[in-house]
Order: sequence, then C-alpha cells, then structure tokens
Amino acid sequence: MTDAVKVGFVPFSAAARGVLVVFCDDALKFGPVTGKALGTAVQAVKRAAAANQFKGKSGATLDILAPEGLKANRLIVVGTGKVAALKDSEFIRFGGKIAAKISAGTEAVTVVAELPSGALKPAQAADVAAGIRLRAYRFTRYKTTKKDGDNAPLRTQFSVAVADVAAARRAFSPQSHVVDGVLTARELVNEPPNVLFPAEFARRASQLRKLGVRVEVLDVPAMKKLGMGALLGVSQGSEHDGRVVVMRWNGGKPGEQPVAFVGKGVCFDTGGISIKPSASMEDMKGDMGGAACVVGLMHALAARKAKVNVVGAIGLVENMPDGNAQRPGDIVTSMSGQTIEIINTDAEGRLVLADVLWYVAKKHKPKFMIDLATLTGAILVALGIEYAGLFSNDDRLAERLTAAGQASGERVWRMPLGPEYDKQIDSQFADMKNTGGRNGGSITAAQFLQRFVDDIPWAHLDIAGTAMSVPASDLNRSWGSGYGVRLLNQLVADHYEAKR
Ligand code: BES
Ligand code: MN
Ligand code: ZN
Repeated sequence: MTDAVKVGFVPFSAAARGVLVVFCDDALKFGPVTGKALGTAVQAVKRAAAANQFKGKSGATLDILAPEGLKANRLIVVGTGKVAALKDSEFIRFGGKIAAKISAGTEAVTVVAELPSGALKPAQAADVAAGIRLRAYRFTRYKTTKKDGDNAPLRTQFSVAVADVAAARRAFSPQSHVVDGVLTARELVNEPPNVLFPAEFARRASQLRKLGVRVEVLDVPAMKKLGMGALLGVSQGSEHDGRVVVMRWNGGKPGEQPVAFVGKGVCFDTGGISIKPSASMEDMKGDMGGAACVVGLMHALAARKAKVNVVGAIGLVENMPDGNAQRPGDIVTSMSGQTIEIINTDAEGRLVLADVLWYVAKKHKPKFMIDLATLTGAILVALGIEYAGLFSNDDRLAERLTAAGQASGERVWRMPLGPEYDKQIDSQFADMKNTGGRNGGSITAAQFLQRFVDDIPWAHLDIAGTAMSVPASDLNRSWGSGYGVRLLNQLVADHYEAKR
C-alpha cells in the first residue's frame, strides 16, 4: 500500500507524544486518566471551548494550539455527546474525525481512549484505530512536484492509549486486516487506466497468493474455450486483452459449499462504439470498483483467516471503440447459451457479468452469489451517493445485506425485480437485448443479470454512486471509496463463518 499509516496501542501510563487527543462529553467532562493527563490545561480547554462555542457534541472537535500547562504543542478535544446515548458505530467515526485534523508533517499523535465514564472497551478502541487508518489514507503516488500538504503521504505515528493493550491489539487485528482490504480496493479504483489494464489488474489480484488465496487467471483462449461470448464481445475492441480472475479462500470446513462474490472490472469504459460524451469520461477509470471490492474483500477475509470458504471472481475488460469493436446490432452468445442483441455498447457491464456469474454458478455451485458493479448511471438518479442499489431474488439474503449495511455504515437500499420488467429487454432477433430503455434503467439491468444466475440465491449491488468520485467523508478522503469491503465482511462475519 502506498499511503497507509500505522496505529499502535500503548498503556495509559505511557507518556503522550506529539499531538494529544482526548474525549469529553457534552458537559465538557473528562475521565480520570484524561483529567490527569491534562492537569492544569483543563482551564485552557474551558476557555477555548467557550471562545469557540464548543459544546462537546458527538464528533465535534476543539483544536487548541500551544495549550498552557501541557507538554504537547497541540491538544484536540473530541466531543462524544451524552455518553449514555453513544452508539457502537460512532467510534470508527471518531477515529476518522481525528485523522482528518492531522496534516503531513505531524510526527506523532496520542489518543487517550477514555470517556468520562471510563476506559473505552477494546472493541471501541479498535474502532477508533480503524477510523484513523481509513481516513488517513491518501493516494499520492503520482504527485511528484507538489508533494506537500494534502499531496504528501501521512507519515504520522498514531498511538491509542488504552487500559488493556493486549486486549485492544486482539480486537484491532482482524479490523486492521479489513482496513487493509478497503485500502487495497481504493488503491485499485484510484489507479489510472493506462496503468491498471486487465492484465495488470490480474497481476495485482494474484498478489493475494501471499495470503494463501488460490488465484486462477483465465486468459482469452481459456475464455473462448468456455464460450464467454458476452464478455469477449466487450473486450474485443481493446488492445488490452481481457481476463477473468478467480480467487479462492478456503478457511471453512473442507468441502463446504462456498459463498461467492463477483465483480465488474471494466478497467476503462469509453462506451465503445456507443461512445460516451467527453465530460467526466475520465471517471470511467473507476468502472472496475466492483472488481476492486472483491479483491479487497478477499484480502480482508484471507488476512484475518475467516472461517469460511469463499470464491471471488472478477471480469476484467476494457471497453474501447477500435476497428474490431463490437457494434450495435451484433448478436453474441453468452456462456449460458442465451443470445444477446447488442443495442448499446455502453451497456457493457451486464455483458461481462453475465458470463462470470454463469461460470461461478456452474463451476462452484455457491450458497449464494453477490455481484458488485458500477452498473448504471440510473442508480445515481434513484439513490444518489448514500445508498447502493440492492436487487435480489432472495429475501433472506436481502435482509441480511440490509442489516450488514446498517451495521457497517455502507448502506444498501432494496429495489424491485419482477417479470413485468422482462418485456423491456425482449429482443426482436435474440433471446434478449442488452438495454431496456430509459425507464427503470437500473432495474432492467438487474433483470438482465438475473437471467444468468439460475436459481442460486443472488444479490446484485449497483455501486455506481458509492464506489468512486465521492466527496470526502469521515472515513475517506480519496476518490475511490473501497465501498463494499466492510459491508460484505460484516455479512460474512455475522452469518457465514463457523464460530471460533
Ligand atoms: N459504467 C457505466 C455506468 C456508470 C455511470 C458508472 C456513471 C458510474 C458512473 C455503465 O457501463 C454504463 O455506461 N451504463 C449506461 C447504460 C445504458 C447505456 C443503458 C448508463 O448508465 O447510461
Ligand atoms: Mn458503459
Ligand atoms: Zn461501465
């Protein structure tokens, strides 16, 4: 990873280094350890709070430079609101708020993990550390001349001072692996499309082997042999050959049916012959956000040695308009045997997924399949950037995903499917066409995908609004969000892992 910061745990008794961060409630009360660390600086805090209308609301911060009576040159007070009303999900946000305050050049930060009511629980301290790592990530690899301020990687050493160092480390270890997975996904989304073409993406996914993941890469001849005509049709207009990468993590019982995740990996989407307008076309480097999430998720699950068998499969192509490109009017035969009339070459993601979903369904017979895809602009119109669109043929899976979304903060909103929509993708010449017109564009896309999942419980997440080009948030300041890694890690942890 380029720009990842380190977060360690130290005992409360350790001397604080660098910037000091403490928590207070909405009565500006501190815990005993914090009070001792502040000493006479408490007076400076009260004055600064009054001067700045700081009321200790949850997530609010108060910044005090050169505080009287403290060794630290900077004191950051983070409000928690009423401690009794604190939700578990807030601690990761606190970590994000803290990291957001720190700029490159800050050597060390010490966070006193104590509420007015007493020490943070290990899981809460771990959440703070995870939030710090998520928000601190920056993508600065290609900044060479203006490498300062926000353009420089953060090299700050963060320490979280806790009551029980060993317990905090234990709680953070799996979390930190999940953060690594998120950062892996972001890194892939942020990379430019001249660097990250399908073969290079496959090479990077292959690095998961270091974690014990089995990685198989299908090249064009292999895909031809399998009859992946839908995926290959998209790929044929590019100088860069497509790939399918299948990743397997077997942390569960031998022979137990796996769960499966499938990602759209269009490394660049020009639209093909149905070419897109120039404005914001550069954003289409992020059209592989689904595949990036699957790689990040496999990283997270393997690194934390999740007790589950998982298949991750990604379809990697570049959608380009050269002399050999697919035309509107072409009819392709998918691996399933179903034929597809191409109406719009810009509706390419569903073509890629059609073959990968079918391949995974037939080859691995998973318990369920969840695909992630930056599939339609229409999902941005419907849901904006706060929720991903969820489509599913299985109510239980949909409910579990919705709950995992609430718990992780990576939220999903269920959208309808139904045979009524089928007529929009009926074709005059083939079994179906690849677009269904303007109305319900995200739904007809999902309806198309459903034809390639057989009867396997399946969910489709349209992440066009959440995977990339998102504004800075508490947990992310980079263009790529890594959306989906924490959501699906949560789903797996809650329902599909053997208990330890
Ligand atoms: N990759 C795009 C969808 C997209 C749009 C992702 C905006 C992220 C931001 C997809 O391949 C696409 O072009 N979809 C078309 C489908 C249409 C031609 C039926 C769209 O949404 O306009
Ligand atoms: Mn497209
Ligand atoms: Zn696309």
